Amino acid sequence: MIRMGLVGMGFIGQQHFAIHQALENVELVAVCDENPDKVAEVAPAVGGNIGDATELDLSAQARYVCVDDMLDNEQLDCVDVCVPTYRHADVSVAALEAGCHCIVEKPMGRSVEDCDRMISAAEATGGMLFVGQCLRFWPEYEVLAEMVSNGDLGRVASAKFTRLSPTPMWSEGGWVLDTELSGGALMDLHIHDADFILALFGRPHAVMAQANNVVTSGEKADHVFTTYLYDDLVCTAEGGWAMPQSVPFEMGFQVLGDKGLLELSLAKDPPLTFYPAEGEPYSPDYAEQTGYEREIAYFVDCIENDRPPQRVTPQSAREAVKLVLAEHKSAQSGEVVAVD
Ligand SMILES: NC(=O)c1ccc[n+]([C@@H]2O[C@H](COP(=O)([O-])OP(=O)(O)OC[C@H]3O[C@@H](n4cnc5c(N)ncnc54)[C@H](O)[C@@H]3O)[C@@H](O)[C@H]2O)c1
Repeated sequence: MIRMGLVGMGFIGQQHFAIHQALENVELVAVCDENPDKVAEVAPAVGGNIGDATELDLSAQARYVCVDDMLDNEQLDCVDVCVPTYRHADVSVAALEAGCHCIVEKPMGRSVEDCDRMISAAEATGGMLFVGQCLRFWPEYEVLAEMVSNGDLGRVASAKFTRLSPTPMWSEGGWVLDTELSGGALMDLHIHDADFILALFGRPHAVMAQANNVVTSGEKADHVFTTYLYDDLVCTAEGGWAMPQSVPFEMGFQVLGDKGLLELSLAKDPPLTFYPAEGEPYSPDYAEQTGYEREIAYFVDCIENDRPPQRVTPQSAREAVKLVLAEHKSAQSGEVVAVD
């Protein structure tokens, strides 16, 4: 049984709370949030763009408003870090230095330096560090990864990814809409696809990005179109969170190989379809859980079996932060930016 502490009880922390509660090999011992209302015995729901938020009963957990108090008072195997991005490094390093394993939400950090601090702390303490790049565990995207790696799509010629969301209005103090703190939609939302593209196709040699702002001011990061420059593959991603509240959340892809096209479109039924180069289209089977459930179950299994996570390594999550920062630079400068 893994003794878990959860820090940050906002939108994603509440999603994780329900997942920990449902896992048979996790005991959710303690929860922590700086905002006392969010760790009240009955905590109000926080809305988000995926999942159904409901009121939380926290009566079975020890409840804290300070992470150091939680780490001092509880015997934990693992800490789940769901605080704002710009605080990931501080809280994760504290958890690792307290002798815990650590799962931290994406993006790994606000900067490459943040990521390096976290990796150094994991190396120094021997704790396992896992970044919740949930798309790698999202069942439809797992099908895509499998079809690319086993050759079912053939040689991939072009790939297009999309992720569009209504503006996130729920964050504590509005931190997510402060581009300095969150990195904007580029770093907060679009990183899902950037990370997945890296995992699928490897590092591009350069990026060319254009972005604009609709709901925030400052550096352009609300809505982005990026072309990833590879030698033999055309690959683009569009990401943005400036959609009106009435627009449904959308994520999807079209990946074309010489053996056919795999498409995910939430607007279609079925959403996931393979159109073979010859023959009838069909919908491949995929798991019914969310990527959130699958990533947490995976990391808990890694801890139980003392096996460092291979599906998302800290170094690969750091690469995703670095790639998005190159996109940010390209979007501000209008230049093609090399990715080293
Ligand atoms: N994987 C996904 O699909 C997904 C979705 C949403 C958010 N996220 C990520 O999760 C993180 C949190 O986002 P959110 O939308 O839940 O934000 P949020 O503002 O809703 O929640 C963050 C919570 O952390 C608390 N907090 C801040 N600093 C703290 C500290 N030092 N100690 C204890 N509590 C602290 C805040 O009070 C707040 O309740 C971000 O990094 C975000 O990018 C990931």
